[in-house]
Amino acid sequence: MSETLKHLFSPVAINTLKLKNRAVMPPMGTGYGNKDGTVNERLIRYLERRARGGVGLVITEVCAIDSRGKGFPTEIGAWSDEHIPGLASLAAAVKSAGAAIALQLHHAGRETVKDFIGAMPEAPSDLPSAILNQPCEAMSLERIREVIGAYAEAAGRAREAGFDAVEIHGAHGYLIGQFLSPFSNRRTDEYGGSGENRARFAIKVLRAVRAKVGVDYPVIIRVSSDELIRDGYDLSYMKWLAPRLVEAGADALHVSLGVYSTPGNLTIASSDMEEGFNLFRAREIKELVNVPVIGVGRIIDPRMADAAIARGDADLISFGRQLLTDPDTLVKAQEGRYDDIRWCLSCNQGCIDRLNFEMRSATCTINPDCGFEYRLTDEKAPASKRVWVIGAGPAGLSAAIAAAGRGHSVTVFERDEEPGGQLVSASRPPHKEGLAKWTRWAARTAEKAGVKLRFGEAVTGEMIATEKPEAVVLASGADSAAPAIPGIDGPGVREARDVLIGKAKMESPAVVLGAGYVGMETADFLMAQGASVTVLDMSQSPPVPPYTAHGYWLHRRLRKGGRLLLGAKVTSIDGGAVRYEMEGKAYSEPAAMVVTALGARSERALEEACAASGVPCVVVGDAVEPRRLIEAVHEGAKAGREL
Ligand SMILES: Cc1cc2nc3c(=O)[nH]c(=O)nc-3n(C[C@H](O)[C@H](O)[C@H](O)COP(=O)(O)OP(=O)(O)OC[C@H]3O[C@@H](n4cnc5c(N)ncnc54)[C@H](O)[C@@H]3O)c2cc1C
Ligand SMILES: Cc1cc2nc3c(=O)[nH]c(=O)nc-3n(C[C@H](O)[C@H](O)[C@H](O)COP(=O)(O)O)c2cc1C
Ligand code: SF4
Repeated sequence: MSETLKHLFSPVAINTLKLKNRAVMPPMGTGYGNKDGTVNERLIRYLERRARGGVGLVITEVCAIDSRGKGFPTEIGAWSDEHIPGLASLAAAVKSAGAAIALQLHHAGRETVKDFIGAMPEAPSDLPSAILNQPCEAMSLERIREVIGAYAEAAGRAREAGFDAVEIHGAHGYLIGQFLSPFSNRRTDEYGGSGENRARFAIKVLRAVRAKVGVDYPVIIRVSSDELIRDGYDLSYMKWLAPRLVEAGADALHVSLGVYSTPGNLTIASSDMEEGFNLFRAREIKELVNVPVIGVGRIIDPRMADAAIARGDADLISFGRQLLTDPDTLVKAQEGRYDDIRWCLSCNQGCIDRLNFEMRSATCTINPDCGFEYRLTDEKAPASKRVWVIGAGPAGLSAAIAAAGRGHSVTVFERDEEPGGQLVSASRPPHKEGLAKWTRWAARTAEKAGVKLRFGEAVTGEMIATEKPEAVVLASGADSAAPAIPGIDGPGVREARDVLIGKAKMESPAVVLGAGYVGMETADFLMAQGASVTVLDMSQSPPVPPYTAHGYWLHRRLRKGGRLLLGAKVTSIDGGAVRYEMEGKAYSEPAAMVVTALGARSERALEEACAASGVPCVVVGDAVEPRRLIEAVHEGAKAGREL
């Protein structure tokens, strides 16, 4: 075992539960469950896979204690005895894979919608959620008593189903958090007003759960240490509350952060936040309680976790998204194989944003297996084929890894001198270096799997006709494209990717044309080097949504250090200025440098060459149409697996 990880890999106890190490998989909603709240094979295999990766404690995703408390339609439940058999299979699978398991007990309160629960959402007060903006009704005293009882009943079912512990979800602005917060709790009875009154619901839930499960059964409570919203509670309130939660029956505190409306989504922070940014709050709470504290929040590297435990910031550490990206992180770290770890990008694209904004089940942008464990096999192809992959971007590398795993003889051709495709430029803006790490991981993994990587070789139709590979994966990606604006080919006009890879020198003031991710991140890159930047886009609303975590920070930095002009139609570029029209008026913006970020065009000419030579060809990633990393990685892997 790596000597440096001795703190992380030392045992710890939560009440009577002895954990083999201090690594926790925190609750993460997936959308895999059944609509009636029961557990299925998909969820079981996904969590079992994480347990096999060496984590000491797995905490399930939110599990509704009442059908009215579901936050999304496929949330699992423990509000009925009918849920017990499925929960028991889940607990048994995780335990036999070597981890302990806790069930997270949840009621969403007002953070849900009527259609999901078949009733009006309920909350301490009838104030609609700041984000969902749905009507909700204030709970009566009788309903409060019922719901407290439902937490206890659900905890009893968890125990009966074989779970080693329960975690009460008191964080992130759900029902318990709504009672705690002066922002959402405007009651004037004993459940509202003073800090003590607002805490009454949480305390009663803990006491009821404790009474139901007995003194020996481990009960964890998850809290947001600070809501970080105007009129919300802050860390000083949680420091006051923490010892009271322990007194009411909590055996451990899981110290998370934020609510739905916290600016920049710090609960599930993007790469814009520093790794481990929330640990100081865990430490402040740990100093006040005599039970284990679990730290969480962009802790990706086990070495950071080990150091945090050694410093006394927390007793256990949660690795959330990192375990979606690489379920074997802990085993690899224990063996010192850090280069083999696929590191989470903190991009949120494939996990929480997909769940929340696309209403699709969660996966991981760069782990195409995540959530599909139930239908993956290690089976080799009936015959090994000579496969050519054209392009070493994310689609090509993912296809190559999967095809080699099937036993094929795979060669990747890349016309550039290095792997990564568009990720070479995409990894240059501030906080995006994770993309370069992924490229290194993918190239190394492909080589370890026996893939031959040939750089500086552009595949042509003649090569395909002459050498006739048995199968081609065309992952030739997309090149930048720009509309015919007068002056766009003139001096001083540069393409964003060239700027990012240093082919074009920074000049100030710079005007960036296009406010999509490429434009916004190139502006961010230029501002970080001291340029004065204006971004122009003809759309009326920002193409990069400010409600995603990364989008929020991009807009905020641009507001501070530059300008974004929407509804601006560029008419020409000349004489060191960009001319544009806005609301029928003509304007001119001085520019020492004009940077174009106006879209991309797929490159798939070789598809015809394959057809002409009778070579089967699958087109993947941006070669199909310019899209995102997730499509490139997932389509590439699928093509490789299906060969
Ligand atoms: C600046 C920038 C930032 C971005 N940021 C993000 C982001 O944060 N998140 C996100 O999801 N997406 C982002 N994208 C988009 C993302 O990078 C692409 O969707 C993704 O790279 C597509 O992968 P791909 O493998 O299909 O194609 P590419 O990445 O384009 O790779 C194709 C490869 O094929 C090679 N090739 C082409 N023809 C041949 C040939 N005949 N022979 C040999 N090699 C050939 C090319 O040289 C290239 O290396 C960004 C893009 C840019 C430009
Ligand atoms: C897809 C996804 C779903 C989540 N669902 C839950 C949940 O069900 N309950 C919960 O308490 N936290 C949930 N979280 C928050 C995580 O438990 C964790 O606190 C957060 O991801 C920060 O940790 P990380 O930076 O290690 O990922 C979710 C996070 C993600 C990414
Ligand atoms: S989708 Fe992005 S943030 Fe989510 S687990 Fe994967 S790499 Fe991490």
